[in-house]
Amino acid sequence: MSSPVSVEIKGSIAWVTIENPPVNATSTAVRADLLQAVETVKGCDLAVLQCAGKTFVAGGDMSEFDAPPQPPHLPVVVDAIEASRVPFLAVLHGSVLGGGFEIAMACAYRVAKPGTQFGMPEVNMGLIPGAGGTQRVPRILGWQTSIEMACLGQLKRAEDLLEMGAIDAISDDPAANVQDYIGRPFTPVSKRDAPSIEDLDAFSEQVRRLAKGRAAPLHNLTALQWTAAPYELSQPKERALHLELRQSEESRALRHIFFAERTVSRPAILRDAPAGTIREVAIVGGGLMGCGIAAACLNTGHQVRIIERDTEAAQTATETVQSLMLGALERGKVSEAQFRDRLKAFQTSDGYKDATKADLAIEAVFEDLETKQAVFAELSRVMRPDALLATNTSYLNPNDIFADTPHPDRCLGLHFFSPAHIMKLVEVIRTEAASDATLATGFAFAKGLRKTPVLAGVCDGFIGNRILAAYRRAAEYLLADGALPHQVDNAMRAFGMAMGPFEAQDQAGLQIADANRRRQDATRDPHERYIPVSDRLCAEGRFGRRSGAGWYRYKPDDKTPQRDPWVETLIAGYSAEAGIVRSALTPENIQMQLMTAMANEGARIVEEGIADSDATVDVVKTAGYGFPRWRGGPMHWAETVGAKILRQTLDTMEQASPGSWRRAARYSNPNSQSKVTE
Ligand code: NAI
Repeated sequence: MSSPVSVEIKGSIAWVTIENPPVNATSTAVRADLLQAVETVKGCDLAVLQCAGKTFVAGGDMSEFDAPPQPPHLPVVVDAIEASRVPFLAVLHGSVLGGGFEIAMACAYRVAKPGTQFGMPEVNMGLIPGAGGTQRVPRILGWQTSIEMACLGQLKRAEDLLEMGAIDAISDDPAANVQDYIGRPFTPVSKRDAPSIEDLDAFSEQVRRLAKGRAAPLHNLTALQWTAAPYELSQPKERALHLELRQSEESRALRHIFFAERTVSRPAILRDAPAGTIREVAIVGGGLMGCGIAAACLNTGHQVRIIERDTEAAQTATETVQSLMLGALERGKVSEAQFRDRLKAFQTSDGYKDATKADLAIEAVFEDLETKQAVFAELSRVMRPDALLATNTSYLNPNDIFADTPHPDRCLGLHFFSPAHIMKLVEVIRTEAASDATLATGFAFAKGLRKTPVLAGVCDGFIGNRILAAYRRAAEYLLADGALPHQVDNAMRAFGMAMGPFEAQDQAGLQIADANRRRQDATRDPHERYIPVSDRLCAEGRFGRRSGAGWYRYKPDDKTPQRDPWVETLIAGYSAEAGIVRSALTPENIQMQLMTAMANEGARIVEEGIADSDATVDVVKTAGYGFPRWRGGPMHWAETVGAKILRQTLDTMEQASPGSWRRAARYSNPNSQSKVTE
C-alpha cells in the first residue's frame, strides 16, 4: 500500500500532504508517516501541512477503537509536530475535527479557507479528545468556547476562530503565501498560559443540564480543568481518560449507533438498484403530516403541489406551509431570498390536474382505506405510469391500499414522523410489488430531504409503531399492577428517553391510538390482557394536551403535565375491579420491563424479516422515537444486558400477564415445551 503521507521539499519549504480518503482520518499508517515526516522536514525553514481531497483531517479512525491502540499514538505525533525545530503551518479546509483539530492546534501557524469548520466531536462518541485537545483549546480559545466545543460538541467556523486569534489568516488560496510565515515568531499553544476559570459552578450546571444523562460532556469539563497544571503533567491524564472511556458503555453505544446509521442507509438489497431523481412532488392531504412533508421537500429544493379536498382546505394548507417557512425565516434558518424561492416552488389546489407532472405523489389523507384507495385511483389516472406513488399511512396495510393501482411496482410507503419537517426518520415501506428501483428511489429521495431512511416490511405499525405499541402495552400493564403514570414517565426519562410513554401520548394526542385500538378490536387475541384505562380517558374527551387533559392535566398555555387525582383514582378503580392487588414498582423494575418489551418486539421484527437487522431497529428508535443515542437503541441495550436477564424479565412479565407476550426465538424460555410462545 502506498504511503498516506508524502513529503515534497521545494526550496526551503517542505510540503507534507496527507492523503487518506475519504476524510483523511488519523489511522495508524497516517500517524506513523506523520511522525516520520517530522524527521524528513529537518533542515527546512517551514513545513506546510495540508490534506488532499475534500477536507483536512476530520477525525480518528473509529474502526480502530475497539482494538488496543497501536503506536505511534496520536499525542506523540501531535507533540512531535509542536516540538519540531521546523515550524509547521497548517493549511486547512473542509472539516478540521477531532484529531485533525488537535494536529492543527499543535502547528505553529494556521491558515484556513473561508467556511472551514472546526470541532471536537469526541463528546458525541462518549469520549474526550486524547491528543491534547482539551489541554490546548482553553489556552487558545478561552473557557466559554472550549466548553461549547469540547463538552457540547459545537462546531466553530474559521471566521469565529480568526476573531478569537486561534488562526492566523483566512484565504481562498491558503497555500499561496506560505513563505510569509518563514521566521515569524510564535509561542507553541501548549506553552501558553491557561486562563483561570471564572464560574465553574455555572458552567457545570449548564453542561449537566445539556448532557441529559450522558457522562462524556462532564468528563470533558473535568479534563478542561486540568489545564491548571502544566501541559506535560495534564496531557497524560487526558490520554488515560480517553482510553478508559473507549471501553465505556456510553462510547460503545454511540459508536454502535454511528456505524448502524451508516449501514442502514445502504440496505444490501438495494445496493445495485438504480435510483431515479425526484424533482416535483405532489402531496395529497394538506393536514398536519402533508404540510410538514411539504416543508421538508421545499427546504431541499423540490417543487411541491398540495392537493386538498376543497378550496377552503387548500387555503388552510397554504397558510400552514407559509407559517412553517416563515418560522424558519424568523429563526434565521433561511435567508429572505431562500424564503421567497421556496414559496415560489409551492402551490396548493383542490384538483388532481396539478399532479400531472410530479415525479412522486405522497398521500397523507385521513387514515381510512377507501379514502386512500380513491386517492391513488385519481393519481394513477393523471400521473405518468412510471411516477412513484407513496402512502404515509401509519397502520393500514399498504398492499391493500395499492391493491387496484396500475403498475404496483412503483408503489411504496414513505412513513414520515410528526413534525415531518423536523423528525429525521422515514420508514421506506416495501410493499409486495415494489421494485428495487422504486425503493432505491424512495431511499435516495428521503436522503435528499436530509432524513434518515430505513427499509421496513409490512406489518401492523411497521417497525417503529409496532415496538411503540408493545412498549405502551407493557406500560399500561404496569399501571394496572401498581404504578402511576408519573412514576413510569419519571423512570423512563431517568433511563434517558426524551419523554415517558404517557406524557408522550398526551403530547401526540390519544386519538390515533384510540382509532387503532378500535380497528384491532376484531382481531385482538382474546387471551391477551387488555387495560381499558386509555379507552376511558378518550370516552371522557381527554385526548391529551391539546384537549387540556389526557393522562395528565394541563393549565392553559402551559405544557407541563400535572398529576391528576381523577386519573389516578380511575387507575386504582380499574385495578380493584379486576381484582388486582396493587404493589409498588421501583424505577429499575419499570425500566427493565419496558425495555424488555421493546427489545423483544424488536427481535421478533427482525426474526420475521420486517427489519433486516438489529441495527435497523436501533436506528428507527433513536432517529424517530426519542430513544437516547448514548444507549445505542433497544437491541444494543439488550446485547449489553444479556439474553438471560431478558428471558427472566419476560418470565416475570408473563406471570403478571399470562398469554399476553409473544417471545422472540432468541428470548424463548429454554424450559418451555415450545421454544416460541405463540
Ligand atoms: P390530518 O387530519 O391532519 O390531515 C388529513 C388531511 O387530508 C386533511 O387536511 C384533509 O382535508 C385531507 N383530505 C382528506 N381526504 C382527502 C382527499 N380525498 N383528498 C385530498 N385531501 C384530503 O391527518 P394527519 O395527521 O396529517 O395524517 C395523515 C396521514 O398520515 C394518516 O394516514 C396518518 O395515519 C398518517 N400519519 C400521521 C402521523 C401523525 O403523527 N399525525 C404520523 C405519521 C403518519
